Amino acid sequence: MSYLFVHEDREYLLDPGERFESDLGILEVPEDVEPGDVVETHLGTGFTVRRLRGPDLFNHLERTGAPMMPRDVGLVVGKTGVAAGDRVLDAGTGTGILSAYMGRLGADVVTYEIDPEFAEVARENMAVAGVEDAVEVRTGDVTDDLDELSGFDVVTLDTEDAPTVVERTPTLLDRGGSLAVYSPFVENTREVVVAATEVGLDNVETLDTIQREMDFDDRGSRPSTGGVGHTGYLTFARRP
Ligand SMILES: C[S@@+](CC[C@H](N)C(=O)[O-])C[C@H]1O[C@@H](n2cnc3c(N)ncnc32)[C@H](O)[C@@H]1O
Repeated sequence: MSYLFVHEDREYLLDPGERFESDLGILEVPEDVEPGDVVETHLGTGFTVRRLRGPDLFNHLERTGAPMMPRDVGLVVGKTGVAAGDRVLDAGTGTGILSAYMGRLGADVVTYEIDPEFAEVARENMAVAGVEDAVEVRTGDVTDDLDELSGFDVVTLDTEDAPTVVERTPTLLDRGGSLAVYSPFVENTREVVVAATEVGLDNVETLDTIQREMDFDDRGSRPSTGGVGHTGYLTFARRP
């Protein structure tokens, strides 16, 4: 199992038994390391051992396809209500951040990744996240398998061809099931909305996710002038 090793603003993802070198010295990770331990480098710098949680996965898993930011994952979880025991169809896997979060919630996730190398990395990422039993990463184009897929409580999509999958949600989703689609551009978002409306989904709603971080300093408090504003558009809908 991997852990985070934290010293001030430095964080490293390391495994028991691993040897890691940085300008702070050589860190020999003991085999029996546990969260809360402080492990010192040969120069005496202490690293606190931390268990991985969702935001750590976003910050430290190996990246392939652009990962969904925790704030957008939060919206997907909040609006779909994805929960333990749900069957989820996800595409594309990419880095696997959304899949890993949903697996950690206790959902059974089937996720498709068209790029075989990305799929391999995603499988390794699911193991690092400790959700390899909850998240099945299938290599392939999700649109090729739509005839064989059905009975999902939630469908989550983050691909350009999402509208093609949305058209099939009346058979993919169980009654009352939820759809969430992340689209980086408004043109693609509109295609998603049109597809969802045409196949008769209810409660079709698109949100532009913008968040502002607050700065607190000696002079006063105000929203930060830096950072990421817009990330993408999230469209939600329900099968009647
Ligand atoms: C933006 S990433 C997804 C990121 C993911 N939601 C996460 O949180 O890490 C999109 C991924 O979808 C994959 N993809 C695109 N079209 C696909 C398809 N039809 N079937 C399966 N995967 C697809 C791409 O290769 C890419 O890795």
